[in-house]
Amino acid sequence: MRIELTVNSETKYFRTSPDEKLLELLRRYGYMSVKKGCGEGTCGACTVIMDGSLVNSCLVFAPMAAGRSIVTVEGLGTVNDPHPYQEEFVKAGAVQCGFCTPGMILAVKSLLDQNPDPTDLDIRQALDGNLCRCTGYVKILDAVKNIIAREHEEARGGKA
Ligand code: FES
Ligand code: FES
Repeated sequence: MRIELTVNSETKYFRTSPDEKLLELLRRYGYMSVKKGCGEGTCGACTVIMDGSLVNSCLVFAPMAAGRSIVTVEGLGTVNDPHPYQEEFVKAGAVQCGFCTPGMILAVKSLLDQNPDPTDLDIRQALDGNLCRCTGYVKILDAVKNIIAREHEEARGGKA
C-alpha cells in the first residue's frame, strides 16, 4: 500500500504495509534522526511531531499517519546549518552519544512552541518522556535555559 505524508513540509507518497510502524517507515526513507530505542513507547528516542503534537513513532502504525504532517529533526537543521536549539545543546555539553538528542530537541520545540517562558518544572515535565543515559540531564536543562535566554534576547532585538 502507499500513503501520502507531509514530512518536514514536503508532501509525497510512501510505500508501507499495514503492520509497519511510522518509526520504521521514516528510517527506511532516510530520516535517520528518528532513533529506535525501546520500541515500546518508554524512551522517546523515536519522537516526532505529528500535526503539532509529540508522538512516539514506534507506537504509531504508518497507515494511521496517512495525510498527517510530520516534523523530524532533519526539518529543523543540518550539520552545516544547525538550528539554534542544536547549537545550544552542543555549546552546553548536552550532547554526548547523541542518541537521545533528536527526540530531546523535538520535545523542547514542542514545549517552547506552546510555552515560550517555561519554569524548570515545566521543562522537566516536558522532557519526562525522553531518556538520556549519558548526560545526567543537568546539561540538557542548562541547554534549554540557554535557548530560552537566547530567544528572549532575540525578541528584544539583541544579538544572539
Ligand atoms: S523507541 Fe519509541 S519510545 Fe523508545
Ligand atoms: S547523549 Fe547519550 S543518551 Fe543522551
